[in-house]
Amino acid sequence: MTDLWNERAQAYRESATHAAGDDLDLVVAWCEPGPGVTVLDVATGGGHVARRLREAGAQVVTVDAAPGMEPDVLAPADHLPFADASFDAVACRIAAHHFPDVLAAVKEMARVARYRVVICDNTFTSESAEEGDRLRDPSHVRNYGVPEWHSFFELAGLEVADEAFMVRDTDFEGWLARTETPADVRPRVRELLDSRLRNGRLELPTVVLKGIRAT
Ligand SMILES: C[S@@+](CC[C@H](N)C(=O)[O-])C[C@H]1O[C@@H](n2cnc3c(N)ncnc32)[C@H](O)[C@@H]1O
Repeated sequence: MTDLWNERAQAYRESATHAAGDDLDLVVAWCEPGPGVTVLDVATGGGHVARRLREAGAQVVTVDAAPGMEPDVLAPADHLPFADASFDAVACRIAAHHFPDVLAAVKEMARVARYRVVICDNTFTSESAEEGDRLRDPSHVRNYGVPEWHSFFELAGLEVADEAFMVRDTDFEGWLARTETPADVRPRVRELLDSRLRNGRLELPTVVLKGIRAT
């Protein structure tokens, strides 16, 4: 998995879908960045959340499991090497669907956060779409529905203080290219995701949740 991500690092740095969007704006706003505010960006990828938080004055530490993403700290999301309550806020955008143990990761984010955890991810739409996601990218584990996200937050001791739903979209061919999906499986991926394809763009239903520590 890590090797795959090392090879993809540049594509994710340059990805328009990752570099901007209403979801990114909301993740940044809900971290309440500003001078003196500390934020951990988990699974930072191309570093877009961290960049925006730093522009807003926050002190940011990035963590990722892939060395090629050049995070400040190399670690998996379910074993964050930080003391309890180390950061004012913890952010994690468009990455949790890759985590082998998402609940352990949410618990770790809750543990190292002093006040807020902000998580944004694609949501579950159907089992056939999940098959399409896995064919496109073998590192895809699962997208979760909103009730599952609520239960992860609750089990991690986080109260859902705010949530938003949106449909992002991305150029379908660029989406396949980012993960170097083999040409011979692309038609099957297209077939499995057909109901979410419009004019060459793939719709990505997305949730953003803000959790506060329920202490
Ligand atoms: C789609 S990219 C993240 C996008 C980024 N957060 C953004 O907003 O542009 C997914 C990232 O998750 C990382 N990743 C995958 N599994 C991980 C894990 N178990 N722990 C930490 N990072 C992981 C990958 O290395 C990759 O950098």
